[in-house]
Amino acid sequence: MNNFIRIFFLVLFCRSAIVNAQTGKAILISTNNVNMVLTIGANNRIYQSYLGKRLLNNEETALIPAGKHEAYITGGMEDLLQPAIRLIHDDHNPSLELRYVSHTTKSIDNNVSETSIQLKDPKYPVHVVLHYQAFNREDIIKAWTEIKNNEKGTITLEDYASCMLHLEAKDYWLTQFHGDWASEMRMQESKLTSGIKEIDSKLGTRADMYQTPVFFLAMNKPADETTGELIAGTLAWTGNFKFHFEIDERNALRIIPGINTYGSAYELKNRETFTTPAFIFTYSASGKGQASRNLHRWARNYGVLDGNKPRLTLLNNWEATHVNFDEKELVNLFDDAKKLGVDLFLLDDGWFGNKYPRNNDKAGLGDWQEDKSKLPNGIAYLVKQAEAKDLKFGIWLEPEMVNPKSELYEQHPDWILKLPNREENYQRNQLVLDLTNPKVADYVYHVVDDMLTKNPGLAYIKWDCNRNMTNAWSPYLKDKQSALYVDYTLSLYKILDRLRQKYPHFPIMLCAGGGGRTDYGALKYFTEFWPSDDTDPLERVYIQWGYSNFFPSLTISSHVTSWGKQSIKFKTDVAMMDKLGYDIKVSKMTDDELEFSKQAVKNYNRLSNIIWFGDLYRLISPYEENRMVAMYVNDEKSKSVVFNYNLNTRYKEVFNRVRLQGLDSHKLYRVEEINLMPGVKSNLAENGGTFSGDYLMKVGLSLTPGKLIPLSSMIIEINASN
Ligand code: DGJ
Repeated sequence: MNNFIRIFFLVLFCRSAIVNAQTGKAILISTNNVNMVLTIGANNRIYQSYLGKRLLNNEETALIPAGKHEAYITGGMEDLLQPAIRLIHDDHNPSLELRYVSHTTKSIDNNVSETSIQLKDPKYPVHVVLHYQAFNREDIIKAWTEIKNNEKGTITLEDYASCMLHLEAKDYWLTQFHGDWASEMRMQESKLTSGIKEIDSKLGTRADMYQTPVFFLAMNKPADETTGELIAGTLAWTGNFKFHFEIDERNALRIIPGINTYGSAYELKNRETFTTPAFIFTYSASGKGQASRNLHRWARNYGVLDGNKPRLTLLNNWEATHVNFDEKELVNLFDDAKKLGVDLFLLDDGWFGNKYPRNNDKAGLGDWQEDKSKLPNGIAYLVKQAEAKDLKFGIWLEPEMVNPKSELYEQHPDWILKLPNREENYQRNQLVLDLTNPKVADYVYHVVDDMLTKNPGLAYIKWDCNRNMTNAWSPYLKDKQSALYVDYTLSLYKILDRLRQKYPHFPIMLCAGGGGRTDYGALKYFTEFWPSDDTDPLERVYIQWGYSNFFPSLTISSHVTSWGKQSIKFKTDVAMMDKLGYDIKVSKMTDDELEFSKQAVKNYNRLSNIIWFGDLYRLISPYEENRMVAMYVNDEKSKSVVFNYNLNTRYKEVFNRVRLQGLDSHKLYRVEEINLMPGVKSNLAENGGTFSGDYLMKVGLSLTPGKLIPLSSMIIEINASN
């Protein structure tokens, strides 16, 4: 560049900087690869001026014009689309204006920084603080908002989003994940049209079931695994949520994530503060795969309890026995767990209740005493028996619920959510306890605490939640019913906080009749979740694919069960992709099946560090081909595992070679198919061979040698040899 051009650009830069200084000051939120720029406008309001790929030169972010998109739009003023916040003041004025007061950016450690922007209404003493935590290495931004009422009287929050994002693109493509019981996480992609699209839930006790609080939003064109510009977002809230997408008259998109304010106007008295749950998002310029890896890394480091620690493999008795078992049968099942070589035996539903024994789902819930006829020597005996066999022991609880046929119901009818003047409405013959009542919250805490205090040898809990809130009314909240949905979830978090103070690392599986509670609000208290009651491995391929977009593998419990008619190999290969467990009658296995399973558990133990802590690359989507292929690679790029599942393949269906990803081009890797049935030899052409990472990523593997067999699978271990 000659001097003249240099001076020209310098003058241009200074001029723009001066212009910008007059109109606004930039607040920069950055991760290693992402910039979010908020600019203080001349009117002292805050605008989101940029969100996308990080600029090479930080100073240039100051040149970005403030634009027109207020960062946290308020209701009742001049903007006529959906606001992020809307409230009614004590004097009934339904408007809010937010002006910049100050901001701070503090470094929390060498990876995380937090920017807090103080805003205030010029006329009313209402303060709003926008918080943005930036996780550098993970490229994640966590955004939430505090709303403080300093008015003398009460203000009513009608809308209170976690944050607001603005995008400007030609087109917008939304990928959402919906379903129902036993069909969770069905992926659906659609182009947004002008106007509103909302994804929400109103289930009360659970965040999801019909819709999961996660999404991808691709700009300009649909994103695939390796290309495309997109936002991936999720709300950390175990209750009603809402994602509002709205394309305005100028084709700009506003995304408003937060608690679903349906039926949930929330009152704040003088000096009270409401803190919204966090919206966690990432931006990727190279497709969904990168966005998922960002979220997985963040989750392991920050979002999930003990996300960098190993998990326990287990044998659960639910599918094998349901509620019909006795002590002897359980102790026999311990031997099955030992045969398989898993770490833990998990006793599911059915072990409790005496006046109303839990012999089916109609009775007993709430009466957490061992059923004396099934377990005459109690849980302590089972824990000891398991210990004697060098096995850990875990137990199922559903502490938030009650059957009308229970002593708890008889003793405390006022502890239960149910509408006055209406019939009780049951799901699975049960009702929800009123967690907003501190006495009930204390009771729920003690259900878990007593269990752990009485049985110090206990190693694991499965915390279930088998119904939504219907006909919901809290006897405790009286005339403040619109606080119910929010206060229920806040109270649940308080119980979990209290438990985690006492038992910081105790492994607990989060379950809600399958994947009804899959969100990062809950996962910071739990080590893993139960993704679906549907364990048919064909269905699981899709379900696991869905979850893998937002949750790391070590949180996704995947069990080998008797659902589905597929071979034990196919079932096991599918379960091994995530957190392996069993829920099957081992005694019904053939010798070959048992031998295979024992070897599979050994293989899993050898590979689990790669599966749990490695990077996931989804290579072939089951939504695009009649197969699914995915692989994990460890940080050093020295070890990898490839999972290949042929689905309902057709006669002479053609599958191309699959190029691997994430390896080191310069390393040499040995390729070996594992998890073969006894006596079966690998058909993989590359089996036993050594190839460079370059070859494997450019030429790839022929994963379908010979005749295609429907519902067949392959696991390939890849180890660097240099
Ligand atoms: C629903 C869960 O999803 C199942 O795994 C099992 O624990 C049952 N509840 C027990 O009632």
